[in-house]
Amino acid sequence: MNTSFERVMGGKSEWLTPPGIIGALGEFDLDPCAPVVRPFDTARHHFTVVEDGLLRPWFGRVWCNPPYGREIGGWLKRMAGHGNGVLLVFARTETENFFRYVWPVALGIMFLRGRLTFLNVDGSVPVNHAGAPSCLVAYGRENAEVLKNSGLRGKFLYI
Ligand SMILES: C[S@@+](CC[C@H](N)C(=O)[O-])C[C@H]1O[C@@H](n2cnc3c(N)ncnc32)[C@H](O)[C@@H]1O
Repeated sequence: MNTSFERVMGGKSEWLTPPGIIGALGEFDLDPCAPVVRPFDTARHHFTVVEDGLLRPWFGRVWCNPPYGREIGGWLKRMAGHGNGVLLVFARTETENFFRYVWPVALGIMFLRGRLTFLNVDGSVPVNHAGAPSCLVAYGRENAEVLKNSGLRGKFLYI
């Protein structure tokens, strides 16, 4: 799974969520993996690589679009353990990480229509869209309802 993530994103981890996605999901208390210099806020509080969001306690409603690479399983594990928030990941539904931290734990999933165009860290829009389909994963019943009623283009399913 990890190598798949890196391959589709060209090995770079500073790919930012299009603001329209987060805007459709309401306010988040914490983004535990945010850029050190960000063009816009994704939550009320942010942890960056400087604080290391994997080592910090998480709180409230969490927005998590994790860094791509070997460590992605650690982020999915934290999200599953926290149980309150929305995760944005590639729809690698067959992987070990999905079978550990999504299918048995999450309450809803939105398979997004088309491919997302993640932003560069300066907020600019790259030429190419992502090389794989994305999904939003809801942890906690309220987040499943928010996802279902978000108006985002895609297919929502209760898990
Ligand atoms: C895919 S980007 C997503 C950024 C932002 N969360 C968003 O949704 O737009 C992953 C981010 O995680 C950050 N990151 C990498 N390792 C981290 C760590 N140990 N703790 C906190 N953030 C980290 C990267 O700098 C990068 O900005």
